[in-house]
Formats: sequence, structure tokens, C-alpha cells
Amino acid sequence: MIWFDNVTCTFVKGAGLFDATFEIEKGEFVFVIGPTGAGKTILLKLVYMEIFPEKGKVVVDKYNSSKIKQRQIPLLRRKVGMVFQEFELLSDRNVFENIALPLRVRGEKKREIKSKVYHVLDELDISNKASHYPSELSGGEQQIVSLARAIVKDPIVILADEPTGNLDPVSSFKILTLLEQINKEGTAVIMASHNYNLIKDRGHRFIEVVDGRVSG
Ligand SMILES: Nc1ncnc2c1ncn2[C@@H]1O[C@H](COP(=O)(O)OP(=O)(O)OP(=O)(O)O)[C@@H](O)[C@H]1O
Ligand SMILES: [Mg+2]
Repeated sequence: MIWFDNVTCTFVKGAGLFDATFEIEKGEFVFVIGPTGAGKTILLKLVYMEIFPEKGKVVVDKYNSSKIKQRQIPLLRRKVGMVFQEFELLSDRNVFENIALPLRVRGEKKREIKSKVYHVLDELDISNKASHYPSELSGGEQQIVSLARAIVKDPIVILADEPTGNLDPVSSFKILTLLEQINKEGTAVIMASHNYNLIKDRGHRFIEVVDGRVSG
């Protein structure tokens, strides 16, 4: 479902990803680990096609980084849910509106949006926060809303970049458990993390990035 074929993506000499080749199957759960500056975020951004390789190709579902047209990028992103480390919620919209946004963008009907957003809020157990603004939420709650915004699109894969980076152990465990639950329902998950204690015994595959070299 996701294929990195000899991918090199560098910004400055000596930094980036080099000759990365690996595959991620439908429905897999994969942790991406490696030290700061190793290339984990670059790897995720390549899947989201926020950046493109200068050598090799990234294939996500039917989209190929070397052939995709600008107008197809929103179609790709319907299938890929991104959870950013810094949440990136819109501060002037409440929780409901933040989660509804990707559905509004694709022109879905009001009633359909309402039902989908409430379904996700329910699933993640945050329905009581629907009318709160991001500034009225804790860091853990904001991260859950950010996750809700990614899953409401019903993507084939969720990319989570250090989703527990700013959270206490209890909230971190909650986020991981939610991701595992979503994965059980068939969505692939790729999660970059430094939190080795949290992720070590979960029985999922590891991909290691060290100095831009990928193994696993
Ligand atoms: N837009 C950019 N311009 C220049 N260099 C960049 C850019 N993005 C990333 N890099 C460089 O690429 C390398 C890998 O960055 P990346 O963000 O993927 O690291 P990371 O593994 O996610 O690290 P962290 O664990 O700290 O999040 C770093 O050395 C970084 O400085
Ligand atoms: Mg990073």
C-alpha cells in the first residue's frame, strides 16, 4: 500500500533520507524510531506528499510521487490522515468545527458531517468537549482532537508524528491505545516516536532511521 523505492530526499548536504526502500502493507502498525534529526518527519512528509524525493519514488495507494499532479494531492490526502506533533488546531474554531473541516473542504452535506463528527467524538470519548475551543483544552485533549480530525476522513493510513511528544504518561498511553483501536478496525498506522518505553512491547513492527538510512 505504501512503497518507498530507492528514495533519496535531501535538503542540505548530509541531511535527509538516503536510498530508502521499504514497504508497508494495508492495515499494518509501524513505529518509526531513531534519534533527533534522523529523518523520521521527512519520511512521514514524503507519504503525505508535502515534500517529494529527488531520486526514487514513493507510492501511496494508486498515487506515485513521480507522476502525481498538483490537483490530485487533495485526493491523496483524503486517504492519509496526518496527526501533527504540535496539534495545529485552528484556535478560532471549536472542537466540532476543527474536526468537521476536512469534510467541509470536500463538500460533504451538513447532516452527513454532523453524524460523522459526532461518531468520531463518541469513539474517542470527547463528545462533551464539542463546543470547546482549543485554548480550553489540555494538551492531551488537543492531541485527541487532532487525531479525531485525521480519522474522520476514514483514511487508509494515519501518520502520527511524535503524537505523545508533549503528553504525560497517562495521556500518551491513551493516544497509543486509540491508535491501536483504529488500527484494529483496518486503518494502517505509522507513528514516529522517541518514547521507547511506551512502544517497546506492543508487538508492532519497527522501522529505524539513523542518519537518513532506513532499516527494518
Ligand atoms: N525544510 C528543511 N530544510 C532544511 N533541512 C531540513 C528540512 N527539513 C528537515 N531538514 C533536515 O533533515 C534532517 C532530518 O529532519 P527530520 O525532521 O526528519 O528529523 P526527525 O528524525 O524527525 O527528528 P526529531 O526526532 O527531532 O523530530 C535534519 O538534519 C533536518 O535539519
Ligand atoms: Mg521529527
